[in-house]
Amino acid sequence: MQKVFIIYLALLTLSLATAPFQVQCPSSPLIREAKNELCSEESLYLRTKEIKTKNKLMDFLESLTEAKFNSKFYKRVRKDPPKLGIAISGGGYRSMLIGTGFITQMNDYGLFEYSDYIAGLSGGSWILMDLVVQNFEVGSLLKEWDLDEDLLPGIPEFDISEEDIVTNAKKEYSENDIRIKKREVKKTQITSFSEFYDQVELVANTIGERSEECRLTKRNLNPLTRLKRIFFPNNTFTETDAKIETFKTVLDFYKNLHLKTKPKKMEGFQISFTDYWGKAIVQRLKKSFEVHNHNFSFSKLVQSSKKFKECSVPIPIFIANCKNGLLSNVIFEFTPFEFGSWEDILRLFVKLPYLGSKIVLGKAVKCVNNFDDLGFITATSSSIFNNVLIFIWNLASQSSRDAMKALNMVMGIFGLGKEEIFSISKDSSRLETDYAVYQPNPFYLYPGKDNVLTSKNHLYLVDGGEDGENIPLRTLVIPERKLDVIFVLDSSSDIDNYPNGSKLKRIFEKLDEENIHYQFPNNVKTFSHPIVIGCNAIKRPGHDSFLPIIIYHANSYHGHVSNTSTFKITYNQSEVESMLLTGREVFSNDYDIHYKNCLGCILTKRTMDRLPKKKKFSPFCLQCFKDYCYS
Ligand SMILES: *[C@@H]1O[C@H](CO)[C@@H](O)[C@H](O)[C@H]1NC(C)=O
Ligand SMILES: *[C@@H]1O[C@H](CO)[C@@H](O)[C@H](O)[C@H]1NC(C)=O
Ligand SMILES: *[C@@H]1O[C@H](CO)[C@@H](O)[C@H](O)[C@H]1NC(C)=O
Ligand SMILES: *[C@@H]1O[C@H](CO)[C@@H](O)[C@H](O)[C@H]1NC(C)=O
Ligand SMILES: *[C@@H]1O[C@H](CO)[C@@H](O)[C@H](O)[C@H]1NC(C)=O
Repeated sequence: MQKVFIIYLALLTLSLATAPFQVQCPSSPLIREAKNELCSEESLYLRTKEIKTKNKLMDFLESLTEAKFNSKFYKRVRKDPPKLGIAISGGGYRSMLIGTGFITQMNDYGLFEYSDYIAGLSGGSWILMDLVVQNFEVGSLLKEWDLDEDLLPGIPEFDISEEDIVTNAKKEYSENDIRIKKREVKKTQITSFSEFYDQVELVANTIGERSEECRLTKRNLNPLTRLKRIFFPNNTFTETDAKIETFKTVLDFYKNLHLKTKPKKMEGFQISFTDYWGKAIVQRLKKSFEVHNHNFSFSKLVQSSKKFKECSVPIPIFIANCKNGLLSNVIFEFTPFEFGSWEDILRLFVKLPYLGSKIVLGKAVKCVNNFDDLGFITATSSSIFNNVLIFIWNLASQSSRDAMKALNMVMGIFGLGKEEIFSISKDSSRLETDYAVYQPNPFYLYPGKDNVLTSKNHLYLVDGGEDGENIPLRTLVIPERKLDVIFVLDSSSDIDNYPNGSKLKRIFEKLDEENIHYQFPNNVKTFSHPIVIGCNAIKRPGHDSFLPIIIYHANSYHGHVSNTSTFKITYNQSEVESMLLTGREVFSNDYDIHYKNCLGCILTKRTMDRLPKKKKFSPFCLQCFKDYCYS
């Protein structure tokens, strides 16, 4: 027992180091009103980056012998190099793995580091987390991921569409919907339930809980008993050893998450399911990262990365949606510099290191650092996986009444009382346990902006894909970022877990409302090759710049299985290989050399479009545009 006690203390000390801590407020403002410009750090980064990485593009172009570019062309490109961005869709591990293959192939062409941005949401954001942890070394991606371990222990693999998870989190499913995967459960040290109870209590005591959780765990053991009933409906704990082991492993896992999340709560912050999910996703990295680096702050990690300091890698952007009031499709972004939204309703940003600070009327009252935990931000973008947890609890219990009970109980164990859940659900009509709670709200009562985003002292953020906008495209299309070409990788699940373009279509409809018109290629027969959209140089309304060209890549069959379920949560080595290969093939159009040469024409098209004279394109390039451009 004593040994356990010491281990918990050690864990506690570790996790305390990653909780937000108070700092002195800087004298400069923490909030920026975005008029028509990027923040100064971002602009400076991009200016330096252009000089740093221009040769990557030149090398790529010079390698294209078929395109036969001439010296005038190279001179022109050097003078006005195109700006590239990458958008990686959601789709769980499927998207992460295909995306990793995709950017690995881009990197082989020299085009990854040349790109200015890589935006990700949900499963796509896991690549961003991996990149940050790996100091932006594409070759090191996935090295630390434990893909053969359950993403969330105790949760069986199942094959249900994203749609169901998003809209029907409360719906009940039958056991038949789920392919329960038999896995050998690792033996834990605990030998009996009473010992397990003791441990839970010990944890509670160690942390010195005072509030309602103390009641929950100390005064009676009801919640645990109830949890046991979910696993052992007939209240016979002697059922099977395997089941008992599973139960212990699962509970142990979640208890551990609780322990790691506790310090943030003790610092007085509102926590949500996403905090637990954030700790869980970080744990998937084999390298016990926290042991080596106590600063898990996104801004600090990035700033301490050599490649980022050199300005030689794309800026990662995490995307989430805001659910204050009845908002939909309101996008928020986290860059290493700031957090906020470009949407007309807000256009405010807070300096990322100071996220979590108390800021009222735009004035800093109490400042903290380390709220911008990388796991928490990643989890916010991929909070759809909260629903998986909830969904499973639903399934595990027999009736919705029990489901509610179980949910409350689990939330209780996680330190979230009923009141929090109900206060959230009052805000809109459904039970929004998947919200990531950002409190304090940095934009609280910001002068001149009186709306649902500033009137409450919290922001509710959810999975970037929840409003059907599963591709982080809009954040890259904004005129401020001045991009010329955006590589889109879509690994959404529309039909048989393959995309059919409907997510892109949806975003185009949304952009239409903003007076930005892209034509969705309705005449496309197959999405198994890259589709270039918006080739014709069209000026942005109200701006002197052209709309970016979009190269749309859909996950599709390239000889290996790549349409795995969004909620497939373990992959063996050969499955991983198939996904990575598919990603490479999707980007390179099956290593098509002609396409690669055409890519040279497409990437530099805007550079040439900006020239006043006619006849700027070679016959080769003109043919490429004919072959690959739609609308
Ligand atoms: C629980 O008990 C009932 C009747 O005693 C039985 O029909 C049912 O299969 C049992 N359930 C489990 C999961 O063992
Ligand atoms: C990590 O954070 C501590 C403050 O908690 C700071 O003193 C230290 O310099 C940071 N280290 C890095 C590498 O940023
Ligand atoms: C993958 O696609 C094939 C058809 O191409 C389909 O038969 C199969 O069910 C799909 N698998 C999954 C897991 O969706
Ligand atoms: C894609 O598939 C969905 C069904 O999953 C369908 O509703 C939609 O119309 C399709 N979209 C396109 C662009 O084919
Ligand atoms: C990996 O999983 C696939 C099923 O998805 C299976 O066919 C294959 O044998 C497995 N490979 C290994 C090495 O376990």
